[in-house]
Amino acid sequence: SSRRLKVRAFSEEQEALVVKSWNAMKKKNTGELGLKFFLRIFEIAPSAKKLFTFLKESDVPVEQNPQLKPHAMTVFVMTCESAVQLRKAGKVTVGEFNLKDLGATHFKYSVHYEHFEVTKYALLETIEEAVPEMKIAWAEAYDQLAAAIQNES
Ligand code: HEM
Repeated sequence: SSRRLKVRAFSEEQEALVVKSWNAMKKKNTGELGLKFFLRIFEIAPSAKKLFTFLKESDVPVEQNPQLKPHAMTVFVMTCESAVQLRKAGKVTVGEFNLKDLGATHFKYSVHYEHFEVTKYALLETIEEAVPEMKIAWAEAYDQLAAAIQNES
């Protein structure tokens, strides 16, 4: 990929901010947050709905589709874990998932750079609403994770 992102140093303070705000968000309704996050994506980029097979094949309105929350939560949780790993290991690792597989999956479903950017924007808006002042650390953790996934495709 031509958009390889250089790994930047991730400070202890940034890690602490991401983890702290995630813990604060977890106490609220994370399902609601996740849903809001994805509805925001589709508001900005309605065509992104077509990427998800379970949305394409469903007659249920998007906001009522029960399959939407898990991917939304995954992005939240993995961005948070990315922050921890960036600080500890200096690079992104994706826990139970394999980066190569994740890269291949998103490539297969035609998820492009622009989708990652829109998703970042929606994620940061959601976080800003839930826990203001936490945006920059989340942005950095998200960028590194998204780049790691796209570099594998
Ligand atoms: C699938 C994570 C960004 C669309 C998945 C899966 C994971 C994941 C863990 C499941 C893979 C599997 O089951 O093997 C992430 C993370 C992201 C990200 C951590 C950001 C850093 C995006 C974006 C889009 C997207 C930006 C599009 C707007 C999809 C689609 C699938 C998928 C369409 C397949 C779902 C299906 O079965 O229909 N993602 N994702 N992802 N992701 Fe993402």
